Amino acid sequence: MLIHRKPSSLIVPPSVDLRRRLLLRGGASLASLASLPWLPGCGGNSSADFDPAPGPNNLPQGCVPPATDTAAVPRGLHASFTGDPVSTRTLTWFTDGLEDPGTFVEYGPVWPGMSGEQMACEPFPARAAGQVQQTHGVQALTHAATMVALQPDLPVRYRVGAPGAWSDVRVLPAAPQGAFRFCHFGDHGRNDASLAVLDGVRALQPDFFIIAGDLSYANGDHPTWDDWFNRLDPYASRIPMLTAPGNHEAEDNGGGAYKNRISQPGLGYRYTFDYGRVCFLFSTGGSLVGGNLAQDADLVAELAWAEVELSRAAARRARGEIDFIVLVQHFTIWTDQSGREPANLSLVLLEEGKLLRYGVDLAVVGHDHIYQRSVPMGRGRPREDGYIQITGGAGGQSLRGFAPISHWSATDAIRYCFTEYIVDGPKLTAITWAVDRADNSLAGGELTEIDRFEIQARDSAARRLFAQSPEPAIGGEDAEKLLANTRRRNALHHRSEPL
Ligand SMILES: [Fe+2]
Ligand SMILES: [Fe+2]
Repeated sequence: MLIHRKPSSLIVPPSVDLRRRLLLRGGASLASLASLPWLPGCGGNSSADFDPAPGPNNLPQGCVPPATDTAAVPRGLHASFTGDPVSTRTLTWFTDGLEDPGTFVEYGPVWPGMSGEQMACEPFPARAAGQVQQTHGVQALTHAATMVALQPDLPVRYRVGAPGAWSDVRVLPAAPQGAFRFCHFGDHGRNDASLAVLDGVRALQPDFFIIAGDLSYANGDHPTWDDWFNRLDPYASRIPMLTAPGNHEAEDNGGGAYKNRISQPGLGYRYTFDYGRVCFLFSTGGSLVGGNLAQDADLVAELAWAEVELSRAAARRARGEIDFIVLVQHFTIWTDQSGREPANLSLVLLEEGKLLRYGVDLAVVGHDHIYQRSVPMGRGRPREDGYIQITGGAGGQSLRGFAPISHWSATDAIRYCFTEYIVDGPKLTAITWAVDRADNSLAGGELTEIDRFEIQARDSAARRLFAQSPEPAIGGEDAEKLLANTRRRNALHHRSEPL
């Protein structure tokens, strides 16, 4: 359907003098960001009930008159990347009804020494118009707008919506050029443990966080999606979030709600991006392809895409352009969760060979509601040149138990937790933080370290070894044609028509 759009405009912020840069790196980032005030609702927002932000609420109220039309007020606001993670951020939000009140983001840098009042109330130097579409399966609109030409070393303050119905003002962190940190968990849900995990992530103030599938457990129920995004809003509007789809996202027209409600690079449900010297590849891991496999060849398309992207990443790593390749998806490849052990054989046969061929360093996954880390592994055995799998499926929804622990397993725990990754040059340190006590009761904000490991980037000889060409059929000039023909052929088979 057509959505009415207000006229667009784009003002690029002026270049700035960075004599007094905020140095948001390493320990400095924690201190600097902890001192940023958490901005109250100048424009009113449905997230207020879920905003347990730390620190004094020291900003003035009422910079912007409250909206008279509550349906037009942005809700479920969350930040991500759809382009360069250093100089852009994309905001996505929802409004009720099908009349577009306007899809804009207004933004500007947070200057050193800027007061809370200035952050909340000063005019914004830049405005960008976004895109709007009907929210999948419900009488609401999904809005998305991208901030561009951001100053890498400065946090950015912003609000979204339109005149008369702005969100309150939020602050996103700067994008560091050197060391950076991200957090990961999966299988989130909407309970107290889910919020405790988000609180833990926020306390550590990473540069972004990843949810490895099974986000809301809506299973196609849209009020559940709305509630999940409203709970997420105070966190994900202040720390960018990237996600991979899980099997519970698939239970909605092949991921219709998921694809509509979240803005991400590429196709949105599978994509790659570089952050610092790390290449991230987010795969569906087969989550969204089950029902229509024969009809539209999505699985074939994804396997071909992953092969080409991993080959490119391995070549770039061999040239010294990046240090690590990280796969993010929902499904574990190998697991010791009771009842699901020992492996997802589909992924062993279809995917694991690619991880080993191109030397993927980490597989960051969920699905099994446990915490488990492997040693470098492959084919169900320890293997020096293999990948490390981190199963972070204990992100809130529930906890499960273990079968006997395999030889490839380095650590296992039945704790609500998330993992923090610190990437500093060719060294990656990961720390897993429990948000509960040993009896799984929530620890009231206290974080307990339950695992820590460190890996060094592969040396130049290993990098060269993994710099392999993709399969000729999908790495050559005819790859697009082959894939198109496969789709056509499969569609004809599906309709039982002769070729
Ligand atoms: Fe799950
Ligand atoms: Fe799952």
